Amino acid sequence: MTAEPNAGSTVFDATVEERLAEIETALLRAAEADTALVTEAAQHVIAAGGKRFRPLLVVLAASLGPRQDPEAVVRAATVVELTHVASLYHDDVMDEAVLRRGSPSANDRWGNTVAILVGDYLFARASDLVAQLGPDYVRVQAQTFARLVQGQIAETVGPTDGEDPLQHYLDVLAGKTGALIATSALFGAMVADADPDIQQRLARFGEEIGMVFQLSDDIIDITSDDTGKTPGTDLRAGIPTLPTLLLRDHDAPADRALRERLDGDLRDDAVLAEVLAELRRHPVIDEARAQVGKRAEAARALLEPLPPGPARSALTELCDTVVTRTA
Ligand code: IPE
Ligand code: IPE
Ligand code: MG
Ligand code: MG
Repeated sequence: MTAEPNAGSTVFDATVEERLAEIETALLRAAEADTALVTEAAQHVIAAGGKRFRPLLVVLAASLGPRQDPEAVVRAATVVELTHVASLYHDDVMDEAVLRRGSPSANDRWGNTVAILVGDYLFARASDLVAQLGPDYVRVQAQTFARLVQGQIAETVGPTDGEDPLQHYLDVLAGKTGALIATSALFGAMVADADPDIQQRLARFGEEIGMVFQLSDDIIDITSDDTGKTPGTDLRAGIPTLPTLLLRDHDAPADRALRERLDGDLRDDAVLAEVLAELRRHPVIDEARAQVGKRAEAARALLEPLPPGPARSALTELCDTVVTRTA
């Protein structure tokens, strides 16, 4: 019977797909509001798509415990994705981004005030759902949100005098992205009633893969024209990322002109395009990729003690795709 070895994972894949489809429905339902305007604006970024990386982590982690409760899995995944989407509404205001998930950003379409308040509305909806999961979840969610917000603030204010810029950057990523991705994996393990050590391990894995995810995203912000976001947004805003930090750290005389352009005015589209093209050809991109690859290996190692099976395999595979993705 040659089909036998794959039969388990085929059933597993089908269950994951089914759960993700249920999460789509739950997300749109959670974004419904009392008026057509708020409903439309709140569903706008959800309906535009997205990778659904956080819901996937919830679903996969939820396979690593004895309790099967599909409704709780869908609820937990909806909480983390709504929190993520809400943070995107606010982030696009902060970054003055006009494009999100290949569609006009909410701030571009309805203005900053509506975008901020709709972000708040989605946070409120996430809070309602997380309360249905119980006080332990509420506490984790509150702490996660506090870390996310502090990460965004730390990025906005930049490193303090004497603070190492690379360490500051990594701390920002841990807060703004690592925290919620860690919580995604933890929530999955919690709803499945996984052993406490498995819960802790999955949370650590989530934090680590979350760092890798954002480090990759920051490289892709430079290298790709295909993200559904405007390339070079970080450069334009003067937000340091691993490639530009490496460039500054090397302090090579040959890079002086490029470093000065990075510090200069990048509002002009043609100027930004030139700087992007120059950075894309620069060895710091491969150097940054290699460093991110090493971190992905560290994330993968955290999975080794987990029980073998399709969930662990899928999580291991994520460690590759997070690094190799190009958009
Ligand atoms: C965007 O998150 C912000 C980051 C933390 C990199 P995603 O890359 O998960 O965005 P979507 O959900 O796929 O649009
Ligand atoms: C987004 O960071 C992180 C949060 C939304 C909390 P970025 O500003 O780097 O993400 P993108 O590139 O706009 O998706
Ligand atoms: Mg942004
Ligand atoms: Mg930002």
